[in-house]
Amino acid sequence: MDIKKIISEMTLEEKASLCSGRDFWHTKAVERLGVPDMMMCDGPHGLRKQVGEGDHLGINESIETVCYPTASALASSFDREVLTELGEALGEECQAEDVGMLLGPGLNMKRSPLCGRNFEYFSEDPYLAGEVGAAYVQGLQSKGVAACAKHFAANNQETRRMSGTSNMDERTLREIYLPAFEAVVKKGKTRGIMCAYNGINGVFCAENKKLLTDILRDEWGYDGMVVTDWGAVKDRVKGIEAGLDLEMPGGAGVQDQAIVDAVKNGTLDEAKLDQAVENVLRLVSDYMEQRKPETTADREKYAQISRRLEEQCAVLLKNDGILPLAKEKNVLFIGEFAEKPRYQGGGSSHINVPHVTGAFTCAKEAGCPVSFEMGYLVHEDESREELMKKAVERAKEADAAVIFAGLPDAYESEGGDREHMNIPETQNELIRAVAAVQPNTIVVLHGGSSMVLPWFDKVSAVLHMHLGGQETGAAAVNLLYGDVNPSGKLAETWPLRLEDNPSYLNFPGEDGVVEYREGIYIGYRYYDKKKMDVRFPFGYGLSYTTFEYSDIKADKAAMQDTDTLTVSMRVKNTGSRKGKEAVQLYVRDEESTVGRPVRELKGFCKVELEPGEEKEVTFTLDKRAFAYYEPKIQDWFVESGVFHIEIGSSSRDIRAELPVEVTGTKEIPITFTYTSTVGELMKTEKGRAFMQKMMGASADRQAKVEDENLRHMGEGSEKIAQSMMVEMPLRSIVSFGRMTWEQLDALIAMLNS
Ligand code: BGC
Repeated sequence: MDIKKIISEMTLEEKASLCSGRDFWHTKAVERLGVPDMMMCDGPHGLRKQVGEGDHLGINESIETVCYPTASALASSFDREVLTELGEALGEECQAEDVGMLLGPGLNMKRSPLCGRNFEYFSEDPYLAGEVGAAYVQGLQSKGVAACAKHFAANNQETRRMSGTSNMDERTLREIYLPAFEAVVKKGKTRGIMCAYNGINGVFCAENKKLLTDILRDEWGYDGMVVTDWGAVKDRVKGIEAGLDLEMPGGAGVQDQAIVDAVKNGTLDEAKLDQAVENVLRLVSDYMEQRKPETTADREKYAQISRRLEEQCAVLLKNDGILPLAKEKNVLFIGEFAEKPRYQGGGSSHINVPHVTGAFTCAKEAGCPVSFEMGYLVHEDESREELMKKAVERAKEADAAVIFAGLPDAYESEGGDREHMNIPETQNELIRAVAAVQPNTIVVLHGGSSMVLPWFDKVSAVLHMHLGGQETGAAAVNLLYGDVNPSGKLAETWPLRLEDNPSYLNFPGEDGVVEYREGIYIGYRYYDKKKMDVRFPFGYGLSYTTFEYSDIKADKAAMQDTDTLTVSMRVKNTGSRKGKEAVQLYVRDEESTVGRPVRELKGFCKVELEPGEEKEVTFTLDKRAFAYYEPKIQDWFVESGVFHIEIGSSSRDIRAELPVEVTGTKEIPITFTYTSTVGELMKTEKGRAFMQKMMGASADRQAKVEDENLRHMGEGSEKIAQSMMVEMPLRSIVSFGRMTWEQLDALIAMLNS
């Protein structure tokens, strides 16, 4: 396509019209100029292609296909390859189905365990979300299908999701809510971005120039297309001005007319519209160039991939040694989820799946002596006494009992937030009753976010399967019986109770306004800073084998923030089973003048080891690993000093650390005013020189008198006086009679010159 030529030949009406969808899932064609339409579909963890009536709520039918583990599971793999493999499989299927763009991945941070859509999001940590998100995008786009990272940005709850505003300070936005998007733009090279429904600090994302142009395009260099979330447009003309290209699903043409009118009456520069048209056309043109209509979808193969990926994502939360189960043991499987697992969430990502594996059937087919009791019904909140009684009776006789439990559909979905972190009380009662008679009680959990586990101390083992896709039952059996060794680690902290969560007092906000008052302290950044106990820390997960870490090394002990640092460490499998370990690297700033989390994840890798085998893992860190976002310079800033590189098996299981001296190469210019302090003044060379000269002899005389006074004030008084001096505003020097206003003005002018 000669895009510039096409634009020059388009009428104003055609241009405006191209900036909204033809229907729920297609861009418009401009036949007279040879521009075809292009289909886009939800994702992200399967292909939701609707051929009949379209909707964005997961109501109407879509084609039958394979459902993969959802994002909250996928991030727990801590494995970029898992995400790339999924992206590739989805890309192939999109090609087979002639879909040009898949609407995913979802990159919003898990601010609260209550967000109804947490199952669709990766993590509470922006680095992890960005890395796995970029790997997914690379996999998908390697097959010639555009990704569409969503929902840009700060869409962290479902309450008032279409009209609310997420309010936060600049550091919080830059350090927590934007970096995952930055990574999929810069590293993943995503060709699509979907803007969120909500606003940020009162400006809707769909008309937010700072977000869609200043940051996304000017700072990050994004040159792809920006689409609305479905129905997110408010003022279409403002949207075009802000950098929003395509409106979906596209209404009856009212908004297109508004664009035409605005250009005609001079309120919208046509060049802005041309830019939006160009971005849409480039996406369509890439689609045309990369289409491979001869591709066939191999759904048998995708089902196998879905199972293998889920096996890498499941997290072993507790094991007193009962797992893996010996295959000859008589095991009672209990619970409706043992046959009909919960494997995906509700809403726009809902995949139409013809076949779901149940763990009980899989175990039976594998020849294990298993039996089944219902125990509870997923959709009933009241316990059925006879079901529970039978399960308890039979559990007594078995060698072990495996209870499949977790969150029912109604407890979490798109469109509404969770009310609490509990699983149904019927299930809690059943687990307690079974554990009271059967010492080998194992709980398998299904759910898209963290839960409260009131019986945790009473059971022998807990295996978390997340919402693990259609093959979650088969994967659970392979993990329970040890054909696969669990290797997932939690991508979000599980607090002991909801009230511990940092957003608790400000979620979901009032009247559509939610203040992110916890700032940068979300997830482990908060729990670590407050030294709080949690149920499971970020990055936690057990294995059937053990790993030993040794020999941490860095290629330098001191560096400038413009250098890179290479850190390596050896990891050995010291157990008797093959296994994979997700090695995590955190950076801790020893001392800082601004508030910073205790540690932040800045690297991870997954390493597979045979028993006795040892490998070296390597990480490369650049400036961003040490920096915080400094609003005063509107840039990332490294404060010179010692940083500690911590490598470990979880955020609270650090196995080795190493100091490195980092020198920042940027300065924060200070503007002095009457309220600047003497301490700030003394930090500058000019300030120190001035003070010395100015106070000179009189300071000496005065110092003697003060020394005398201090002796009378007792021990520690010198320090007290010093800190009082450091905190003193410059204007007080005049109040204390040490300077005239004229002298102070001269001093300030000199400092600011
Ligand atoms: C969701 C998006 C989805 C879109 C299309 C919206 O309601 O927020 O994630 O891609 O619908 O179905």
